[in-house]
Amino acid sequence: MAICELRDTSKHYGSDATLVRALDEVSLTFEPGEFTVISGPSGSGKTTLLNMVGCLDVPTEGTVLIEGHDVSRLSSRALARIRGNRIGFIFQSFNLIPVLTAVENVELALQLAGHNGNRHKKARELLAAVGLGEMTRRRPNQLSGGQQQRVAVARALVKDPALVIADEPTANLDTENGRQVLDIMRKMNAERGVTFLFSTHEKLVIDMARRVVTLRDGRVVSDVAQNAGEA
Ligand SMILES: Nc1ncnc2c1ncn2[C@@H]1O[C@H](COP(=O)(O)OP(=O)(O)OP(=O)(O)O)[C@@H](O)[C@H]1O
Ligand SMILES: [Mg+2]
Repeated sequence: MAICELRDTSKHYGSDATLVRALDEVSLTFEPGEFTVISGPSGSGKTTLLNMVGCLDVPTEGTVLIEGHDVSRLSSRALARIRGNRIGFIFQSFNLIPVLTAVENVELALQLAGHNGNRHKKARELLAAVGLGEMTRRRPNQLSGGQQQRVAVARALVKDPALVIADEPTANLDTENGRQVLDIMRKMNAERGVTFLFSTHEKLVIDMARRVVTLRDGRVVSDVAQNAGEA
């Protein structure tokens, strides 16, 4: 079953003369195991699309299905459960808690996700998986941007989510750090089968995806599979 399906989904802002079609009758299906980038110029609707898929916002028209469930028919409680248990988020600005160490940031996420096992051990495992096994006791300001974003990748994985959504995860990183974060995401996709849906307008990042959906003015202008190259 598809993880997410958009059917003629539109998101409009304003009305009449000021109407903005941030998303305009978009139909897309995202299957388990995908490693997909949403590309397109600034204002083309990338964030709006990811917010629909992540159930952070509701469409003006059309349907959003998450694992077959019509989001508009779910109670707010059921929706919160999907958002909490099935979808992981990575943010452009990392959003780590500055007073906590890397391992504490991940442990807190495990606690919030209701993880009852040995949280410290699990957090260390996740950090090792993103290549930060030696840096678990550093606070965010003692880590590079790329390392902070890798902590955020580990944190997004605490729930074993069906889908991880990342809106411009490399926007605040230089080329090398951006490449490392994408490499870790690809590794998690290949080894753990985590489905990723992320946005960017950087060519290097687009080249690392296996499917490229391009938006313009809220519409899908192309949707192609590609051999993800080594950047
Ligand atoms: N809350 C809002 N109110 C009004 N218009 C909005 C709102 N949010 C987004 N828009 C408009 O919707 C369109 C799509 O915005 P969106 O943020 O999805 O673009 P984007 O592709 O993510 O751009 P960027 O690359 O700059 O992040 C833009 O024209 C934007 O101005
Ligand atoms: Mg955006």
